[in-house]
Amino acid sequence: MRQLIAGNWKMHGRLADIPAYAAALRAASAHTDLLICPPFTLIERLAAALAGAGVGVGGQDCHGAAQGAHTGDVAAAMLAEAGASFVILGHSERRHDHGETSATVAGKAQAAIAAGLTPIICVGETEAERDAGEAEHVVRSQLAHSLPAGFAGVIAYEPVWAIGTGRTPTEADVVAMHGAIRAALVEKLGEAGKGLRILYGGSVKPGNAASLLSLPEVGGALVGGASLKAEDLLAIAAAAPRG
Ligand code: 13P
Repeated sequence: MRQLIAGNWKMHGRLADIPAYAAALRAASAHTDLLICPPFTLIERLAAALAGAGVGVGGQDCHGAAQGAHTGDVAAAMLAEAGASFVILGHSERRHDHGETSATVAGKAQAAIAAGLTPIICVGETEAERDAGEAEHVVRSQLAHSLPAGFAGVIAYEPVWAIGTGRTPTEADVVAMHGAIRAALVEKLGEAGKGLRILYGGSVKPGNAASLLSLPEVGGALVGGASLKAEDLLAIAAAAPRG
């Protein structure tokens, strides 16, 4: 399967950035799937700028309800209407800043799937949890509670301590965690769990992408800071093995 290189702009990016960014992606011919998740306000404009380019656009969150009195929230169907085909859910910044639990994330994933979006569910341990030898236990528990029954989507393993820090786990730690995630997916979903992509995220850059993306059970990357420059995102995609 082709790898998926997904950019999470977080709360970065302005309207004025869209034309040059989209033009750079249009000019490239990546051998991976590409996805950009900008802030809500830019989804429609980015989707229009990338129309026909084969690059996906996604949201960074959605609500678990189809509509309702939820000031400041966005429903999955609204994202789809704006041109999104994916949505990132349960990012550690959402879990930390907004107190999202795995149960909340499961509800959001269900809503996303009902609206025709592919959820990207993020899991990952803190540094204290890793130091205590609990990384795998924490990630397995997040998976057990964040995935609705019959889940079809993408998992992103993002160790919290590797996000925005320039630090990455050792190759052996990535292999061990992605193997554990695969085993948990198969336990929960049976045969369907074998085919889901497991992305690695946390300080992925053009310089470390080739080694991270070549590891077993790594099906792509969820890229934060480096995705703000189209050239860097494309360099990461170019470093991915051909699937
Ligand atoms: P960085 O690539 O900036 O470390 O962010 C990773 C991330 O959180 C992507 O969702």
